Amino acid sequence: MKEITAQQIEQDFSMREAILACKEALRLHASKAASVPLREKLSFPKGETLLMPAYLKDGGMGGFKIVSVFPENSQHGLPAVPADVFLLDTETGMLAARLEGTALTKLRTGAVQGLATDCLAKKEASSALLIGTGGQALRQLEAMLAVRDLKRVAVYDLDMTRCHAFVQNCQKVFHNSETEFVMADSLEQAVRQAEIITTVTTSKRPTFDGDWLAPGTHINGIGAFTPDMRELPTEAIRRAAVRTIDTAEGVFAEAGDVLSAIDQGVVHPNDFVELGTLLLKEDAFRHSDEEITLFKSVGSAILDIVVADRIYKKFLRE
Ligand SMILES: NC(=O)c1ccc[n+]([C@@H]2O[C@H](COP(=O)([O-])OP(=O)(O)OC[C@H]3O[C@@H](n4cnc5c(N)ncnc54)[C@H](O)[C@@H]3O)[C@@H](O)[C@H]2O)c1
Repeated sequence: MKEITAQQIEQDFSMREAILACKEALRLHASKAASVPLREKLSFPKGETLLMPAYLKDGGMGGFKIVSVFPENSQHGLPAVPADVFLLDTETGMLAARLEGTALTKLRTGAVQGLATDCLAKKEASSALLIGTGGQALRQLEAMLAVRDLKRVAVYDLDMTRCHAFVQNCQKVFHNSETEFVMADSLEQAVRQAEIITTVTTSKRPTFDGDWLAPGTHINGIGAFTPDMRELPTEAIRRAAVRTIDTAEGVFAEAGDVLSAIDQGVVHPNDFVELGTLLLKEDAFRHSDEEITLFKSVGSAILDIVVADRIYKKFLRE
């Protein structure tokens, strides 16, 4: 069995390669070529473990992700949220590879947002706003930079110290780019000026006011993944002319911001379309530079397995 570490994932597989893998994953899912059983939860005395399987018949790819949440682990120098992705040999059922799951999750979560941004944001978009500067944020920023020539990125977080450190780190990590990274002094002004907004927070309330959005903005809601979480304001969901999601089964079960807009009668599930369905149609994603567009993701084992499979195959070739 091949072991692929976090460092190997970070250094040897690019964001652009991951975006292409996510594109294939969402297309396969939309064409019903994927089997994604519901995730299973095991509850232990000190934590819980989620098992997330997926099998894609067409490409002969299958496997599962295991993510655990054991808060007391950090007292013992262990990760509080350990994760691994296992790939199976679909001919024999033998384990083919184990990939470090935290690095893989950050990569595929950034990549699926990059895919949506590439499809939906205005081609000439040059300004972005990132809300949330936690563990996922750097890959989210990298994905936006991979698909648009951004001149300026404003960054906002409730935790100002964390936000400041994040901006300083961006200036180091992306020192070769000509992008200017700034802390947003005024959230309202940052929202009004942004052509692309990505929210990646743990918030339970809307992270900005939907009235502030300028025409033509593309919004990615990445953080909210339980019914009690809220990141996207209902007004932003209402104003969007194109509303895309990663998977219907995930978003309509888990995404609190979308569920609350549906409960209020502002939108109906039929007002949303899976991004993979649009990719299959090869249709225009937006119809004018004035439309507000939206992508909501809660993640899926399909993204994990297809990205893991691409990384594994690249390692076999090298
Ligand atoms: N869509 C997916 O596939 C996917 C994948 C992985 C993680 N996630 C989710 O993304 C979210 C972020 O993950 P993370 O690891 O970066 O979390 P984290 O806890 O490391 O960071 C979250 C950040 O959000 C900030 N924040 C909270 N509320 C805010 C608000 N109202 N406005 C501005 N900032 C606010 C916090 O201060 C913190 O810095 C989590 O909810 C996580 O579960 C989604």
